[in-house]
Amino acid sequence: MTALTSEQILSAIHHFDFPGQLESFARYGHGHINDTYLLQLRIGKIGTMKVILQRINTDIFQNPRELMENICNVTMWLQNKIQKAGGDAERETLNVITDKQNQSYYRDPRGNCWRAYKYITDACTYDQPLNVQDFYQSAVAFGRFQNLLSDYPADHLYETIPDFHNTLKRYNYFEKSLKEDKLGRANTAVDEIAFVKEHQNLTTLYQTKAGASDIPLRVVHNDTKLNNIMIDNLTHQGICIIDLDTVMPGYVMNDFGDSIRFGASTALEDETDLSKVNLDISAFEAYTKGFMEQCSDKLTELETSLLADGARIMTYECGMRFLTDYLDGDKYFRIARPNHNLERARNQFALLKDMDQKIDEMKAIVEKYR
Ligand SMILES: Nc1ncnc2c1ncn2[C@@H]1O[C@H](COP(=O)(O)OP(=O)(O)O)[C@@H](O)[C@H]1O
Ligand SMILES: [Mg+2]
Repeated sequence: MTALTSEQILSAIHHFDFPGQLESFARYGHGHINDTYLLQLRIGKIGTMKVILQRINTDIFQNPRELMENICNVTMWLQNKIQKAGGDAERETLNVITDKQNQSYYRDPRGNCWRAYKYITDACTYDQPLNVQDFYQSAVAFGRFQNLLSDYPADHLYETIPDFHNTLKRYNYFEKSLKEDKLGRANTAVDEIAFVKEHQNLTTLYQTKAGASDIPLRVVHNDTKLNNIMIDNLTHQGICIIDLDTVMPGYVMNDFGDSIRFGASTALEDETDLSKVNLDISAFEAYTKGFMEQCSDKLTELETSLLADGARIMTYECGMRFLTDYLDGDKYFRIARPNHNLERARNQFALLKDMDQKIDEMKAIVEKYR
């Protein structure tokens, strides 16, 4: 995405019908995908209001119309449910502010796509969990999100990034890269390649447990990072899920599993001392508890029995993607040093090894909160 000038941002702002007078705007938050700005508006003599303006990253999301249609439909559904439950729909879900043409986003003459959200007050996001309690709160928020959307017709959503968590397709792509071995790197990753092949059964594990049609398609978030959850400043509760760009039809086990993959590891994704990389079983339990408390009654028995496997599958898929990118010459994941993607793959595989050992314990924990 090209850099933006203040004039371009101002011009975009004027295409929205915000109340009051613009006082200031500035870059905001720590998102890695979109360009996020916080606008301060003055209303009358004493009132102020904040608004979030974002330039959508159209390098990644090439179909902003479909993406915004997904977001509008899902957030309207959530607003409705939250209001019926007596909640605060201004804080517990995103609210899209349309542009002057009443469109959900505005495309400027350069092709930049802009959208606006009501600002969620008295809450903030964290980049890293400070403690297990924060991780539990993120589970509560995602469990509630799943609960409120459990009867949403997920197949009506656009698949904005096709085959996002199609592990089998990703495996086939890995095999293709390995066969081509364009940079001759395969002989430097012999153990990791063997590991991926040994775990090939994970690519079809859901399907072997059931006919694919037995697992319901649900509204999944696909980016369950902690900094996509607004945490209330006073109560410290997870109140709202944001960053809905990757909302798509998918399996609930994948959202659950990806949260565990990065949130319940004892090390960061870039840790190279593999003795430090394990599954933190108490973090796993905290997340499972929060998630199940909110939505266990909406999940089928089959889905529940596959939640722990979701963590293994997401960890496998992620490690395999790092390894594939290493073989391909580091085209997708930005690297800070040579071998970075190979190291990341090793990190994920160390985590998966530990999960393999703990899988019975993980499943027992899920059962406990069923
Ligand atoms: N409606 C909102 N109210 C308050 N803060 C928000 C809102 N939307 C986004 N933010 C803040 O901006 C950050 C980046 O937004 P996000 O939609 O997650 O972008 P990205 O896709 O780049 O991660 C969030 O982590 C959050 O701190
Ligand atoms: Mg984000």
